[in-house]
Order: sequence, then C-alpha cells, then structure tokens
Amino acid sequence: MRTLFIGIITAMLTATNVSGQVNPMVLSDHQAMVRVDEGKAYLLLPVQEKEEYANVRMIVGNENVRSFNVRLAVDKVDYYVPLKVSGGELLDITFHGDRRTTGAVREFACWREMKRSDSFDTANRERFRPLYHHTPAYGWMNDPNGMFYKDGVWHLYYQFNPFGSQWENMTWGHSTSKDLLHWEAQPTAIEADALGTIFSGSCVVDKKNTAGFGEGAVIAFYTSAGQSQTQSMAYSTDNGRTFTKYAKNPVLVSDVPDFRDPKAFWNPEIQKWNLILAAGQEMRIYSSPNLKDWTYESSFGTGYGNHDGVWECPDLIKLQVRGTDRQKWMLICNINPGGPFGGSATQYFVGDFDGKTFTCSQTDTRWMDYGKDHYATVTFDNAPDGRKVAIAWMSNWQYANQVPTQQYRSANSVPRDLDLFEYKGQTYCGVTPSRELTALRGKATNKLSPTCELVIDMKGNADITLSNSKGEQLTMQYDETAGTFSMDRTQSGEKSFSEAFPAVTVAPTHGAIKQLRVFIDHCSVEAFDAEGKMAMTNLVFPSMPYDQIKVKGGKFTVYPVL
Ligand code: FRU
Repeated sequence: MRTLFIGIITAMLTATNVSGQVNPMVLSDHQAMVRVDEGKAYLLLPVQEKEEYANVRMIVGNENVRSFNVRLAVDKVDYYVPLKVSGGELLDITFHGDRRTTGAVREFACWREMKRSDSFDTANRERFRPLYHHTPAYGWMNDPNGMFYKDGVWHLYYQFNPFGSQWENMTWGHSTSKDLLHWEAQPTAIEADALGTIFSGSCVVDKKNTAGFGEGAVIAFYTSAGQSQTQSMAYSTDNGRTFTKYAKNPVLVSDVPDFRDPKAFWNPEIQKWNLILAAGQEMRIYSSPNLKDWTYESSFGTGYGNHDGVWECPDLIKLQVRGTDRQKWMLICNINPGGPFGGSATQYFVGDFDGKTFTCSQTDTRWMDYGKDHYATVTFDNAPDGRKVAIAWMSNWQYANQVPTQQYRSANSVPRDLDLFEYKGQTYCGVTPSRELTALRGKATNKLSPTCELVIDMKGNADITLSNSKGEQLTMQYDETAGTFSMDRTQSGEKSFSEAFPAVTVAPTHGAIKQLRVFIDHCSVEAFDAEGKMAMTNLVFPSMPYDQIKVKGGKFTVYPVL
C-alpha cells in the first residue's frame, strides 16, 4: 500500500518546506521542554529505535492534551514520525534509561534533528514492503480491528503506533478498499483517552438503529487499556471515517487482568446482539438488545484446545458446511504463545451456539493456518452475499518488533473466505483465498516475480524450490502418503534478527491436494490448497527476490498480481 494519507499528509518532504531546529529548555539530566513555534503543520520527531522511550506530554493552555512515548534520537536518526501541531504547544519530555541519566541531554541528536514541516513523506523506502497486502504507510501495525463492509467499501482498522515502528501508543489506524487488495490510508480513527490506549476490537453496522445513534451507524467496541482493561464503545455517523466516544464508557468491566478484544455481531436467531471477548484462558459471551447494556451469558474454554498462552482476539461465526444444507458455528481463538511452531497462532472450535452458550463438538486442537505468521484473525462485519471474509496479522509476537523493516512494521494476510468442510467424519475450517485475488491475476507466465501467484497442478508428491542467485531458498514439500504439506524457511534469507525465525512448518492436508496456490509478495509466502483445505502463511526476507523456481512432481504457472 503506497498511498498517502488523504488530507493530512500530502506532499514530499523537500528542503523548502522543512525548517527549524528546536532549542530545548533543559530542566534536569532527564527532562527538557520545547515550545513549538507557529507556522508549520508538523513537528517531525527523529526516532532511534535502539534507544529507550522518552515520554512526551503536549501541554496547551496549561492543560495536558496528549501524552505518548517515542524513542527520540540520541546519536543517530533511523527515521522520522510526524506530530501534528498548530503552534504554541509546550512539549514536556522525560527521558528514561541509563544514558539519559548519565549523558548530556542537551547534546542529544533529537534537538538538532527535530524539524518543522508542512508535509510528511510517506513514499515507500522499504524493499520488503508488500504490494497487494495491506501495510500502514508508516509506523507499527499489529491486529486487524473493527473490520466491516458498507456501501461498496471494505474498512480495515488496525492496532497502530503513529510514533514509531515498534509496539507502543496503541490507536486505531484506518484504511479502506474497494477490492480488498488496493488499500487507501485514512486518518487515524480512534485515539487514546483518559481510560487508556486503544486495544483491539470490532465494528458493527447498526442497520435497525438499535443503539439510537442513527440507522446504519457504525458502532465500534474496543478495549480501553488503562490501569485495567475495560471495554468501551464509540459510534460513527459518517461510515467509519470519524468516531465519537460513548459518554458512559466503559460498557463492560471485570477483575480479570487479561480482559479484551470484544467482537460484536448481530444474531438473527435471537434478534439480539452478541459479543464475545477474551478473559484470561476463556472466551466470555454476552448479549444485548441495544449494544449499550450487556448481559453475561456464558464462558467457553476450560478443557478445550490449546492453553499454552493467553487467549486473545475471538470471533464467533456461523458457516456453511460445504456440499450440505447444514450450518455450524465456529469460534475463533487466537493464542500467544502456544502456536504449533512457537509463538502466535489461530485455533478454532467447531460447534453450536444458541445465543447464550457455545457447545464444542471437537476434542482435538485445530489450527486455521499452519504457518508461523498468521495471528489475530477476525472476520468482517456485514460482508456481502453472506461471505465470511477473514484477515490475519501476518507476523508473530516472537519477532514482530525485530523484522528487518523500519519505515513501517508488519503487513496483513491476503483476505480469505471461510467455510466448513467434512473429512473422515470431522468438520474442519475451510480457508480459501478470496475471489478478489483471482480477479487481479495478470497474464500467465513461467517467470517468478516479487508479487505473484504461483499455481501448481500436482499429481502425488511434489517438491518446490524458490531461490535466488545468493543461494537463498524457500522449499515446499507435499507428501501425499503422509498427508502433509511443509515449508522450510531455514535458508530463506535474512534471519539473524531472531532465533525463533528460521523454521519448518508442517500442515495436515485433509485429503489430496490437486492444486496448490502460493501467493508471493516481497516478504510473504502464503500457500493454500486450491480447495481450501490447507493454509500456511510464512514471512521470508530474501536479500534479493527469488527469481528461480524448480518444481518436481507438478506443472506450474505464474500469474503476476496487480
Ligand atoms: C493481540 C493483542 C490483543 C490486544 C492487542 C494490543 O496481538 O495482544 O490481545 O488487544 O494485541 O495491541
């Protein structure tokens, strides 16, 4: 996604529209103040990622109007982040960490390097930035939040740090798309307040005006991460562009420390809203007639699935069982750590739901995707044609803050349509690349490119190797007898940033794979059984794109994407 922030960030940063250097008022060995002068729209803050955080309080008319943490540069600038200013603000900056108490604050590079500007350059500087996957224009991103579809537009909010490319200062960033592949960056949608920073959550389209904010209002639920985690609500009457926070927040509280990630949905079977959220090692389910007053119904989790980490980011959806006239419910439960190959992953439970209690009919642990980089998966509200379209955060908490990019960190997965299929008497989650991806296929070729879909027709076992002239390679193996598909990224390229990164991931295939679809986009490889019975998502950081391909046991075609 290489678009600019509409209306906020417009032009390139040039010598003519940048000015200033600031004169800090040094108050102690760890505190300084800066008075922002009049004139330009932004103060560009220089970031040095290895430094400790400095806390910045923005004071206007003697009132604290904003507070955030940023790793201000001490001796070198990695990149800049923009702070919107109008002039006259006082910034009260407190430095943390050893160097701040021993070094000379006055000498820190940040004072020389802070700049005033009317614009902020978001032109892409990263060779690993994917093209047809959603990424933030700059800054850190984790979970997809509040996804909904309305009037032909897909809305994707996300956990966003606007002041650096590592996790901090959570707000809801926002992007929109007409085809799920070309994304346009929008202004930040929900910012921190006195109740806390803004953690993950969901949006619903209130078609019947049950909440009283208007017909078709978009209602957001998110976790206010303050001293404790509580659930808050905000509403939008301009199709999700801007939100007003509900005056009586929080709407749900608890004494459980990990209490977060509310996912609300309309349940036609009870003619009420349901909401599911994570509470420690279980998921709690609530109901409401009006989105404001919630009744606790039940909890799910004890004795089911994997419990080696914190349960997070749930979803609860009703899905069609392929080839039958039956439907079943599926509960999505993201867990970190505890994933099948370490760290973060998405497990699911198939069962029934009567608006109050989820009853699980499976006894084993099941993963929606058998790669290492598929987390915080949730679905869009109000998708057309009854579709259940899911998007995951394409990273893993084991190394998300260290992957080798700086202008931005993390991308989302390609959109996937979910359903259910039966195999040997069990019901599993089907994961199929959304049809929008096929619509953007270019002309078939046999040459790999950094942004393509590789389609392989297979008859039995297959070995697939993608490589470059540096000797870096990604290998995939389909073993029909064992009923497994595996991906080996141990020699895939840059990996020194984390010992947890090199890995071989293995998936059960639930029957034979006849056609394999592999989506490649600079730093990601997502492999699917074309029939949607196996999905595997892994990041790779080759020092140059893979341009050679070897396939044993199959016939391949390459389609450029976009
Ligand atoms: C999952 C998560 C959520 C939380 C958010 C904070 O990745 O830990 O549980 O709301 O990230 O950014």
